[in-house]
Amino acid sequence: MWKIYFRERSFIKMHSFKEISKLFDEKFNQRHFPAHPANLYDASQHLLTMGGKRIRPVLCLMGNELFDELRSEAYHVAAAVELFHNFTLVHDDIMDKAPLRRGMQTVHEIYGEPTALLAGDVILVTAYEYLNKVGSEMKRRVLSLFNEMAMKVCEGQQLDMDFAKKEVSMKASQEKGNITFDDYAAMIELKTSVLLGTSLRLGAVLGMAGLGNQEYLYEFGKNLGMAFQVQDDYLDVYGDPGKFGKQPGGDIISNKKTFLLIHALQSGSSADVEELKSLLESDAEDKVQQVVAIYNSCHIQEWAMELKNKYMLLAMQNLEETAVLSSRKKPLAELAHFLLDREK
Ligand code: IPE
Ligand code: IPE
Ligand code: MG
Ligand code: MG
Ligand code: MG
Repeated sequence: MWKIYFRERSFIKMHSFKEISKLFDEKFNQRHFPAHPANLYDASQHLLTMGGKRIRPVLCLMGNELFDELRSEAYHVAAAVELFHNFTLVHDDIMDKAPLRRGMQTVHEIYGEPTALLAGDVILVTAYEYLNKVGSEMKRRVLSLFNEMAMKVCEGQQLDMDFAKKEVSMKASQEKGNITFDDYAAMIELKTSVLLGTSLRLGAVLGMAGLGNQEYLYEFGKNLGMAFQVQDDYLDVYGDPGKFGKQPGGDIISNKKTFLLIHALQSGSSADVEELKSLLESDAEDKVQQVVAIYNSCHIQEWAMELKNKYMLLAMQNLEETAVLSSRKKPLAELAHFLLDREK
């Protein structure tokens, strides 16, 4: 008992956030696909070569290292969650008609939509190839958590698109099936947070964490994901285009029901609300600038900060509740703070 206590909680070397990122990159930075047909496989490799923050695989490795030494299987699962994420991005950019990602043209812009769809599929299949490397005693559990997450992401993406065509409720409570803040929160939980939570939980499962700890860590990842998507929506409007790497104002152009729009419609003056509603119907060239001016008059930047901090506080409570020596939680706390203030 004591032996296990010390082995698990104290003596295993911990890597910092930076070190874990480097360890993952060293293994992952390679071509993952065959050479031919070049247009299909170059399209599949394109986004992976552009990098990205790679926070999901890092969460997976950190989840493992909280409880045990890093296992080779954790690298396979980490690769699978990063590949799954990239698959969602390739398809998401088609759905969102996005021209830019990671500072480069999107896959469908370069290779066309049919090839981009197939490239996304290839990336997803490759993710499952990595999962297939997990030993048989763990594979069933890993696959079931992974598949549960994957379904939820698809549900979230469907809601995100459905919401773009619906109206926002003028009150906090729902009216005529219009979108409320709670609907928004439920949607971003599905499209974004469950992947962060599951990445961390999968690592914990491989580290043989108990069920209670798995659940606390999942909730931590989920609340971190909520704060993360709030920051993503915020950066979509206020990010520095040179750093953010995506089209500025993309969510405004496609009438995405982000928390910024919901808050502006629910808290703006009646003149602002009327103007905002008519802008939603328009495709004026200066639509983004006009909407941003209304957001500014609603002090949306302060509100975004509060909302992000609210989720981050919940996440830190979940981390506190996780029954592991607090010194071992440092890399996760580092990652959370990095995400809170990220510019890309
Ligand atoms: C973008 O995720 C998609 C969202 C869920 C907002 P990231 O911001 O993690 O994208 P990369 O991988 O770093 O490019
Ligand atoms: C992305 O949401 C969620 C998934 C890709 C599953 P967004 O559409 O906001 O992501 P970005 O802003 O394009 O990265
Ligand atoms: Mg998008
Ligand atoms: Mg999207
Ligand atoms: Mg976004």
